[in-house]
Amino acid sequence: MEIWDKVDRYLEEKLVQSDEVLEAALEASDKAGLPAISVSPSHGKLLWILAQLVNAKRILEIGTLGGYSAIWLARGLAPGGRLVTLEAVEKHAAVARQNLERAGLAPAVDVRVGPALATLPQLEGPFDLSFIDADKQNNAEYFRWALELSRPGSVIVVDNVVLEGAVVDPRSRDAAVLGVRKLNELVAAEPRVAATAIQTVGVKGYDGFAVALVLR
Ligand code: SAH
Ligand code: DHB
Ligand code: MG
Repeated sequence: MEIWDKVDRYLEEKLVQSDEVLEAALEASDKAGLPAISVSPSHGKLLWILAQLVNAKRILEIGTLGGYSAIWLARGLAPGGRLVTLEAVEKHAAVARQNLERAGLAPAVDVRVGPALATLPQLEGPFDLSFIDADKQNNAEYFRWALELSRPGSVIVVDNVVLEGAVVDPRSRDAAVLGVRKLNELVAAEPRVAATAIQTVGVKGYDGFAVALVLR
């Protein structure tokens, strides 16, 4: 086991303090054959903290999978708040709905099935927080939409922006790498946001996430 796996587990145990509902969501996703690519517990808790920091009444998630990150996000909603989470695969959405039901969060969450680029135009903003974590080749388009559906002070988080370091290869033809690089070009040229990105190592290996603050 890599040292960062051990440290991640130590930090999880000490600080994150997952619970049965979250564990059950991962277990049910695994049993249903969903890939083990949910955010890590530490990352999930960060989403929960961010939701509270922005006093989120409305949260947008792109890429639901089994609803693990959705549980963290929805738990961070202000009272009466709502999460809209977009998922292309019906089976993933079905698992997510069950997990959210078990978490007691079903009334606060709207799981919408379909390719996000088809469902996004149906949404009405503003969202206080957006979490982009779907197919990486569409990252720039998703960011454009999230920004469109934001207000000044909204926060946009994008998962998987380092991809084991592959992001710095200008000759890469990998769709995910191209997607992240296109996203960064867009963000760099976008005066309405201030953005940064943090590299991460841990139970999900070497990756990172970007955080953008909507200024105007
Ligand atoms: N946010 C989840 C993990 C998402 S994995 C968590 O941390 O728990 C990425 C998800 O995006 C998968 O479920 C995949 O089916 C979905 N996805 C892929 N392409 C998509 C698209 N075009 N529109 C919406 N969802 C998509
Ligand atoms: C993959 C997708 C993710 O969102 C992630 O966090 C890790 C891996 C993947 O498609 O392999
Ligand atoms: Mg991800």
